[in-house]
Amino acid sequence: MDITATDRLLSTTRAVRRRLDLERPVGREVILECLRLAVQAPTGGNSQAWRWLVVDDPEVRAAVADLYTPRTLAIIDRRYPHIRDPQTRRVYDSARYLATVLARVPVLIVPCVEGRPDDPGAAPPAAFYGSIFPAIWNLQLALRSRRMGSVLTTPFTGGDERRYAEVLKLPGTMTPIALLPVAYTIGDEFKPAARPPIETITRWNHWTEGR
Ligand SMILES: Cc1cc2nc3c(=O)[nH]c(=O)nc-3n(C[C@H](O)[C@H](O)[C@H](O)COP(=O)(O)O)c2cc1C
Repeated sequence: MDITATDRLLSTTRAVRRRLDLERPVGREVILECLRLAVQAPTGGNSQAWRWLVVDDPEVRAAVADLYTPRTLAIIDRRYPHIRDPQTRRVYDSARYLATVLARVPVLIVPCVEGRPDDPGAAPPAAFYGSIFPAIWNLQLALRSRRMGSVLTTPFTGGDERRYAEVLKLPGTMTPIALLPVAYTIGDEFKPAARPPIETITRWNHWTEGR
């Protein structure tokens, strides 16, 4: 294993919004290649209930953006005045940009779970949702290693899920989890993000003693 390359991949796979190349097409084969790697991720009880809806038709992308853009801009406008931290402000600025260009992003991927979280016998939330996120992250890493960028967005909240389900013709048995805009990146220079020193958020053996 090439640890230098692996560590670089793990530390520089960022949420990409502004640097999505809206002009360069993305082929279906490379998306399938990345999804093949995505489903190497673990799932609770080996459920493998992941399903992937890939949207590359401009009309469907536009219909998705018609829902995404106004809703996201409203959320950002409501929260923005309360944000003090500059890093988080930059995230919201970049999310605002993404909302305005979503229809032009070449590919949108909607990871779904077959089943509903409130089905009788459904896995508890940690396993139901927890079984799709490792695959989503594998997907984002595979995309990054092929010079593509993505960002995990979560627009399927409350009543909005039903509206998206209509546009995407999702059966009622399917739970859409996230929406990932995918494109080649403009440039390839992504840096590790500022994070607190790991020693300040890690304790050994017991939380309240034995630091
Ligand atoms: C569960 C989850 C939900 C997220 N939802 C959104 C979202 O709705 N819109 C968005 O633009 N980014 C979203 N993000 C991306 C985060 O904003 C991003 O990961 C964070 O700002 C840190 O940036 P980095 O990934 O480049 O370190 C989400 C990330 C996670 C893990």
